[in-house]
Amino acid sequence: MTDRVVGGAAVDRALPPFAILASGRGSNLAAICSHDDLRAACVGVIVSSHAAAAARRAADVGLPVATVTRADLPSRSDFDAALAAQLGSWGASWVVLAGFMHILGDAVLDAFPRRVVNIHPSLLPAFPGLHPHRQALAAGVSESGCTVHLVVPGAVDGGPIVAQSAVPVVAGDDEESLAARVLAAEHDLYPRTLRALLTTDG
Ligand code: GAR
Repeated sequence: MTDRVVGGAAVDRALPPFAILASGRGSNLAAICSHDDLRAACVGVIVSSHAAAAARRAADVGLPVATVTRADLPSRSDFDAALAAQLGSWGASWVVLAGFMHILGDAVLDAFPRRVVNIHPSLLPAFPGLHPHRQALAAGVSESGCTVHLVVPGAVDGGPIVAQSAVPVVAGDDEESLAARVLAAEHDLYPRTLRALLTTDG
């Protein structure tokens, strides 16, 4: 975004700081961070498993990584409080869920109202929750895709839809082939949707 003039020359305004939360492979994290402007605005990555490959992906691009696992903490509210504390210490103003397989509690959602964003591998409201590709194939749909949405309390894979990208379901598809096609769409959709959200923030 070019919206500020200093000494007569337009300069780019940095995007607001965001943190990424991931639980597993981290391919969406890598796709986001392959864009220099988004990488520059990312203040850190929280992984929810000691085994998450996402931690290596984050370290590879020089991002701070914190591991916050539910199993290491006595209660769900302690988990949420630990997430909120880490996000606060990094000065994040947005939270980007990229394969984060936990439902966020009020401690995080209240601290970032309408500033938590998620990607889900289906065309919501169809096929929320687990195994969306299995659900899509069982339903016999001719297209599936991915959805970027804001996260609001009380709705798993719910909340206002920001953007969607559709892909065809083709004859002979299984969960793996459909997931791969949708994942490629995710890697295209999430970075540009995130940039649009962050650019219009505030
Ligand atoms: C992605 O397909 C993402 O849409 C999905 O988890 C995968 C994470 O892959 N998220 C959900 O299902 C959320 N309900 P990644 O770790 O390689 O980015």
